[in-house]
Amino acid sequence: MDTQSPIGVFDSGVGGLTVVKEIMRQLPGENMIYFGDTARVPYGSKSKKTVLKYSRQIVHFLRQKEVKAIVVACNTASALALDDIREEIDIPIIGVVEPGARMAAESTKTNSIGIIGTESTIKSGIYSKFLRKLNADITVVARACPLFVPLVEEGLLEDRITEDVIERYLHELKEYGIDSLILGCTHYPLIRNAIKRYMGGEVTLINPAYETAKSLKAMLAEQGLLNGAGNAACYDYYVSDGVDKFSSFADRVLPCHVDQVTVVDIESY
Ligand code: DGL
Repeated sequence: MDTQSPIGVFDSGVGGLTVVKEIMRQLPGENMIYFGDTARVPYGSKSKKTVLKYSRQIVHFLRQKEVKAIVVACNTASALALDDIREEIDIPIIGVVEPGARMAAESTKTNSIGIIGTESTIKSGIYSKFLRKLNADITVVARACPLFVPLVEEGLLEDRITEDVIERYLHELKEYGIDSLILGCTHYPLIRNAIKRYMGGEVTLINPAYETAKSLKAMLAEQGLLNGAGNAACYDYYVSDGVDKFSSFADRVLPCHVDQVTVVDIESY
């Protein structure tokens, strides 16, 4: 495998760009191909069967682009599809759930952790499973927050409506006295300031993107796949629909301008 080959990163839409941003920061020399399934988003309310089918198609597309490793930058796909796909491919692949759980287990002092995510991620129980494997004394409180994704996609990051929805979803978690809260959906880091204000300074917000990029770096190093060429990194963006909306969202999230986005007929993969 060529170390200069890109890393494939995918998500159900734009949210995975929060993971891309962290990979750019921690691995500035790595080329990347991003695929956002903007035609079929959201994954968070869909079944395992559907999310697995979509994820397989995207992995097939990324394999044709000769990526050297894959990052499933979507909590829902990491929860519902990663285990199956890992068995089916021969390149390294990681998701965001295990790194996020590890970071939370390291951060908690009271062993009381909250998790928020899409309906499918919460229903899968996967964060709780990883957390309890890491520390059997950890107590987990989980809550699905389905309205956060459309609020973020509408750009309502600092808005009274978002604050009201945060209160509606998170007041129970606040009463439980958790000391760490996992932002278990790729969109949620974009409203972390509003969540932090509501939860208060004593609750640490865990963004799995940071730990995922760290784990990716360790995985590439271990497999001799780090790109040491020293050239400026290249980033290619693909979506299944809605180029303009994707580009303007990407420009708000990423540190560099996204000037070209290509539409892919992902159903044909
Ligand atoms: N990317 C998804 C996740 O992290 C959120 C959006 C969706 O529901 O597809 O779970």
